[in-house]
Amino acid sequence: MSLQKVIVTGGMGYIGSHTIVELINAGYHPIIIDNLSNSDRSVLEGLEAITGVKVPFEEIDLSDSKSTAQIFSKHADAIGVIHFAALKAVGESVEQPIRYYKNNIGSLVNVLEAMANLKIENFIFSSSCTVYGQPEKLPVTELSPTQPAISPYGNTKQVGEEIIRETCSTKSSELHTISLRYFNPIGAHNSALIGELPLGIPNNLLPYITQTAIGIREQLSVFGSDYNTPDGTAIRDYIHVVDLAEAHVVALTRLIQKQNKSNYEVFNLGTGQGNSVLEVIQSFEKTTGEKVNYKIVDRRPGDVEAVYADTTYAREELGWATKRNLDEMTASAWAWEKKLRG
Ligand code: NAD
Ligand code: UD1
Repeated sequence: MSLQKVIVTGGMGYIGSHTIVELINAGYHPIIIDNLSNSDRSVLEGLEAITGVKVPFEEIDLSDSKSTAQIFSKHADAIGVIHFAALKAVGESVEQPIRYYKNNIGSLVNVLEAMANLKIENFIFSSSCTVYGQPEKLPVTELSPTQPAISPYGNTKQVGEEIIRETCSTKSSELHTISLRYFNPIGAHNSALIGELPLGIPNNLLPYITQTAIGIREQLSVFGSDYNTPDGTAIRDYIHVVDLAEAHVVALTRLIQKQNKSNYEVFNLGTGQGNSVLEVIQSFEKTTGEKVNYKIVDRRPGDVEAVYADTTYAREELGWATKRNLDEMTASAWAWEKKLRG
């Protein structure tokens, strides 16, 4: 058991909070830095109930370089940083690009600067399969070309990866990074004590489904049924958030144990299986016994037809693969929704 300190930015959020649990399970000692711009203090109670640990929490805005430097100095003995903190609403980013660049790129640069000053070497970055756009070949490998981003949000991931790659490639840099390109994380911890907390009207499919089933939304719109897919609806690689969280622990440990092959690595995190929107609805209805009121509408602008991961590299190099199936994802998302509204 290691008891090494790990800074987790955005650790109060959806993926961050699940990763905190897995870090503690693996014997790490996480510290959360978050400004609660898209999360709630009550997450700490869920974390304590699951793990029995009171997780230290620092409330600061990482786009402020002074506070970032200060808080990082306080935790200068950290062995690594997992950087989740970012704004992530695609549509909002189109309306407020400056806010997105300031927050996402500003925070990243401040964190990298603080790490360099303190000689903290190990860094995990939350990237996204959005960098691939609509890939020419499926499944998508890590060598598939990236496409120009269609939104400022997507661009913050592309530019973020570039900034890190350039930083890692300088002669004086001691930074070792793994960028994890997530496919579509859904579901919740099986305790239903933590989960996704969408503010306002959800943009993503699963929270929209659970909110419709519980009666907060009247009807789910299924965006497009004329795609070139078996049932006409778009295909994604949905991954259980706990599988995703486990991958962060594996990736961080790889860096700490110096098993990385270069000082900048990229991995796709998905199941390798694509599911259509209708298949997700069917899984939800089967596992929960609830009906989802939905109607087919036009395609959503900017959506890709189909994208799913080639998982070979993550399996062979990280020794990581997903363990949880779509039914477990939809059932756990429902348990969490009921807990939230209960
Ligand atoms: P989330 O919004 O639930 O969590 C992000 C957390 O970061 C929030 O708690 C928020 O308060 C915090 N935060 C944002 N800006 C901050 C700042 N300036 N200073 C301090 N804290 C700040 O989002 P999530 O779904 O957990 O996503 C985590 C990361 O994964 C993000 O970088 C996101 O872009 C990326 N990602 C998410 C998905 C997804 O589908 N959820 C897919 C691909 C990539
Ligand atoms: C979206 C973002 C992507 C981001 C990802 C995770 C866009 C264009 N892309 O991806 O950049 O990384 O979320 O946060 O927004 N769907 C419906 N009805 C709904 C909601 C979704 O039919 O109410 C469909 C979508 O058309 C899509 C699938 O469900 O086919 C998944 O949608 P969503 O959860 O929004 O994820 P992505 O579009 O893959």
